[in-house]
Amino acid sequence: MTVTWSFPTRVVFGEGAAAEVGPEAKRLGASHAFVVTDPGVRDAGLTGEILRALEKAGVASTVVTGVGTNPTEAEVLSAAAAFTQSGADLVIGLGGGAPIDVAKLVRLAATHPPPLEQYDDAIGGDAKVTLPMPPMIAIPTTAGTGSEVGRSGVVTIERTHRKTVIFSPRLLADVAILDPALTFSLPAHLTAATGFDALTHNVEAYCAKGDHPMADAIALMGIELIAKHLVTAVEDGKDVEARGAMLKASMMGAVAFQKGLGACHALAHPLGAELGMHHGLANALCLPAVLDFNRAAATIRIARIARILGVKGNDVETLAFECSGAVRALRAQLGLPNGLGEAAVTEEQLVTLAPLAFADYVHQPNPRPCTKDDMLALYRASM
Ligand SMILES: NC(=O)c1ccc[n+]([C@@H]2O[C@H](COP(=O)([O-])OP(=O)(O)OC[C@H]3O[C@@H](n4cnc5c(N)ncnc54)[C@H](O)[C@@H]3O)[C@@H](O)[C@H]2O)c1
Ligand SMILES: [Fe+2]
Repeated sequence: MTVTWSFPTRVVFGEGAAAEVGPEAKRLGASHAFVVTDPGVRDAGLTGEILRALEKAGVASTVVTGVGTNPTEAEVLSAAAAFTQSGADLVIGLGGGAPIDVAKLVRLAATHPPPLEQYDDAIGGDAKVTLPMPPMIAIPTTAGTGSEVGRSGVVTIERTHRKTVIFSPRLLADVAILDPALTFSLPAHLTAATGFDALTHNVEAYCAKGDHPMADAIALMGIELIAKHLVTAVEDGKDVEARGAMLKASMMGAVAFQKGLGACHALAHPLGAELGMHHGLANALCLPAVLDFNRAAATIRIARIARILGVKGNDVETLAFECSGAVRALRAQLGLPNGLGEAAVTEEQLVTLAPLAFADYVHQPNPRPCTKDDMLALYRASM
């Protein structure tokens, strides 16, 4: 059996890196950028900053802002039509995971035949992503999804109402621009929730089945950066070192999860698609129960995570046992709800969500296999 390991994205990092968007667009041969963003990012003044940098480099721009936090097929198709009409030769995703994912999928929808759901990774849709796409620059304004270096775009398909992962190396952005200053305006609760998405990517990638020592090493360093900097980023949003460290950890999580994710993401997806819950928050609420569930199957790895999160001791069983408690304590310190119940999820809803979580193939590499009943038990344990 062979495995594939790849780390291909060019990343420009540092305070002030946003100004590089002009030269980077030029380097890609572009003269007209199609910028996909959302109202929150625009209102924070970030879109204006990017447009000015493009203008300075002589690059024209068209902007769309119609993206919600759980992007839908309709949003992607509408943005793709606007892209085609604009005549732009470059797509820029500016925002959190939502606008960056939509930007990726605009390139797919504008160059490949409909419907979008045929490209679903769960049914081998990646094999149909074959045609060249316009170049893309990804500029994250949250530190969570790492979508700027990821190969997937997540979209809720209208017909199935499922949060669907579309995956292809062709969806990778050509350049990611990581500027900590672009995340200064992210409110504390979103900094906490998106930070938990990054933590969950690194934790699930590290625990996932599979032979990928480079992803493992990257994931461990990602967890270390989060353990050291997430609280500061939440408490002092303008701390450039903490904001920069979180952008690095977010990027590293997405590089690491080419190895795979796990049960926590399978539980989080229906909470987003069905209840509209923020993706990072959904992960934060489910991660402790998943760590307990996986403990026997990945004791040494979970013990190592516990140690990075500050749990003391030498006995791996005890360390692994205390990992979920350390995650709960971090969640509480960040001011996030302490369970699905506190986030207004009801017992009846869990019964509907559990089969959807089970149907989500992202739990395949989970170190312990999950049944439909396990998914319901995990939701209940997360209440
Ligand atoms: N492609 C992937 O690999 C991947 C991985 C994980 C999650 N996702 C997807 O990403 C989406 C979530 O992304 P997210 O967590 O980054 O949230 P988001 O993109 O939905 O943004 C959340 C909110 O924060 C606001 N915001 C963003 N940056 C801001 C800033 N600097 N200042 C002020 N407000 C700001 C936005 O306007 C929005 O209202 C979900 O749809 C999820 O499924 C994708
Ligand atoms: Fe995620």
